[in-house]
Parts: sequence; structure tokens; C-alpha cells
Amino acid sequence: MLGCMSAMAAENGLLAKNGYERFVRPLLFTLDAETAHHLTVGLLRTASHSNLALRALKSFQPSSKPKKVFGLNFPNPIGLAAGLDKNGVALRAWEALGFGFIEIGTVTAKAQPGNPKPRIFRLPEQQALINRLGFNNDGADAIAYRLAALRESGRWPAVPVGINIGKSKATPLEQATDDYLYSFRMLRDFADYITLNISSPNTPGLRALQEPEKLSALLYAISDEAGIAPKPLVVKVSPDLAGAELKAILAVCEENDVSGIIAANTTLDHSSIPPQLDQAGGLSGAPLRHKSTGLVREIAARSTIPVIASGGIFDAESAREKFHAGAVLIQLYTGLIYRGPQLLREIMDSL
Ligand SMILES: Cc1cc2nc3c(=O)[nH]c(=O)nc-3n(C[C@H](O)[C@H](O)[C@H](O)COP(=O)(O)O)c2cc1C
Repeated sequence: MLGCMSAMAAENGLLAKNGYERFVRPLLFTLDAETAHHLTVGLLRTASHSNLALRALKSFQPSSKPKKVFGLNFPNPIGLAAGLDKNGVALRAWEALGFGFIEIGTVTAKAQPGNPKPRIFRLPEQQALINRLGFNNDGADAIAYRLAALRESGRWPAVPVGINIGKSKATPLEQATDDYLYSFRMLRDFADYITLNISSPNTPGLRALQEPEKLSALLYAISDEAGIAPKPLVVKVSPDLAGAELKAILAVCEENDVSGIIAANTTLDHSSIPPQLDQAGGLSGAPLRHKSTGLVREIAARSTIPVIASGGIFDAESAREKFHAGAVLIQLYTGLIYRGPQLLREIMDSL
């Protein structure tokens, strides 16, 4: 009876809001999206240096449910998706909040400012975001320096850290491999796994790297560079791939012993967004949920490469849907912006 009532309440949107939704989100949403982002990451960066603040953040920690994937030990299967901490400034805070792994980046070989502002847009009705940031980041040199200092300080987190690398905007597509190689060389020592981002819609031409020959050349060069001490390599794909394109990508990933596939990045399919609210850029959040789940299911059916699901995870049900589709790990971005850190416990309690 109670279960039935709570299901009805959930359907009617009547379930109690969590503390973040009641008190923090309304304040953050009075600011423009990028200002709110910088404020939040800035606070978490400061918290990363304070044991007292880290202890407070630990009050959000979900129960642990360890999992071993591509040779790495994950205390739980919920990760921070790339893009939230592009410069790797708040690793300890993400760990304290209870993430089972943290993916920083996208990092590019050259520091770059990204696209003109405004470039992140909230769509609360749709529980979505549109962004066209364009890989704004401090660049591989500065980020390697920061990570080296963190390691030196003895405050490196205990959870796996993935580093997501992409192509610098100023580098022509024909020289993409060298650009990725530069970041790979600078950052591999700090990464438990490296993600090759070949699917952001906001760097012109980047998605062309999903073409089999180009992807093959990139994977070959990186594996060659990794030599006898390879790091797990993960490829992040677009949700907008046609069936034949996906099939070809999976074949190339299998040939090159790719360790994991992240499905998926943001989508260019804005058909669910009313035209008056639409913006150029990649769409994330609830409208991406089913497309991303479909892709996870297709990859899991066609390949044995472990899948990390990303796209529209907002609650326990959407998280379980990804695992049922075949994902071994999941990552959060837009759900965290709308639901806050309590989302982790809500998901873990249901698994
Ligand atoms: C503002 C914003 C910035 C992002 N930046 C990156 C990025 O730098 N690299 C990347 O691989 N994905 C990036 N993403 C994509 C997310 O990592 C994630 O794959 C995508 O948003 C789908 O998950 P979600 O629906 O939970 O947000 C970004 C997403 C958003 C909303």
C-alpha cells in the first residue's frame, strides 16, 4: 500500500525534495549556469585542502559496493563524468562525496579558452543542459603540474582517476594523433585509465575521429606509445552514431584491445527541445536517457568490452536501467546539477 502510494506520489512529482533541491539548487539557479559551475567547483577545490570540510562532505557518502573492472578496483560503480572538473582541481572533494571514480578533463595539449560565453544553458522543464564550452581547460602541461603537486602532497585520492583527453582546437584534424599523444605522454603517469574523447560535438571535426581508419590510427599510436606498461584505454562515443558506424567502431576497439567504452557523450539531437528554448551545442540530461541506454544495450550485445554508461541518470530507476542494459559502471553529470550529491546514496541504496 505504502509502496503504491509512493509510486503514485513520484508519478505526480510529489516526492519530497532532498536538501540540495530545496536549499542549494534554488540559490545556484539564480546565477548564470557557468558562474554557478565555477562557484561550486571553486568551493569543492577549497574543500579539497581542508580535512574538516572533507569530513563534512563525507556525510553524503553512499554505501560501498566494490567492483573490479579492467583490472581496477572501484569502491562503487558511480563515477563523476568528464567536464565537471576539467582541470582536476577538486579530486579529494569528489572522493569525499562518495564517487567510486573520478574522470577529469577533457584536457587538451594546448591550454585554450573555449567558445565565447554564454555557453551553458539550463532547461529545467526538460531536466537538461545544452553546452558548447569547446574544451576550455588549462592544458596538459599545467594539469600535469597540478597533479604532480597533489601526488607530492600525499593527498592523492584512493579511488580510480581517469583522465579524458581531446584534440586542441588549433590543431588541424590531420595532426590530431600527435596532439593526443602529447597529452597522453604528459598525463598517463597520473591516470588509472585514459579516455580518448572523440565525440564532443563542440570541437569542429572531432567526431570525424570516430571513422574507423582515423580511430584505428589513433589507437595504434597511443598503444605503441604506452609500450610495455599500458594503461587501460577507454573510448568515449557519441549517442548519434548510426548502427553501421557503431559496428565499425566496435570492431576497431576490439582489434586494438580497448579496455572500455563510455556511452555516451552529449547529443546533437534536439528534437525534444521546444525551438524557442533551443541553443547550439550538445544536449545532456533527461532527454538523452533512452538514447544512451539504447546505445549501452547495443554495445553490450555486440561486444565484450565493458561499457560505462553516461546520459540522463537522474534517479535510482534511470541508474538501474543502465545496469540492466549491460553497463558495468555509470557516470553522472547533469543529474548531479539537478539532484545534488544525495543522488549517489539514492542510487546505491537501490542497487
Ligand atoms: C557542461 C558540460 C560539459 C561537458 N564537458 C565534457 C568534456 O569536457 N568532456 C567529455 O568527455 N564530456 C563532457 N561532457 C559530457 C558529460 O561527461 C556526459 O557524458 C554527458 O553530459 C551525458 O551525461 P548526463 O546526461 O549525465 O549529463 C560535458 C557535459 C556538460 C553538461
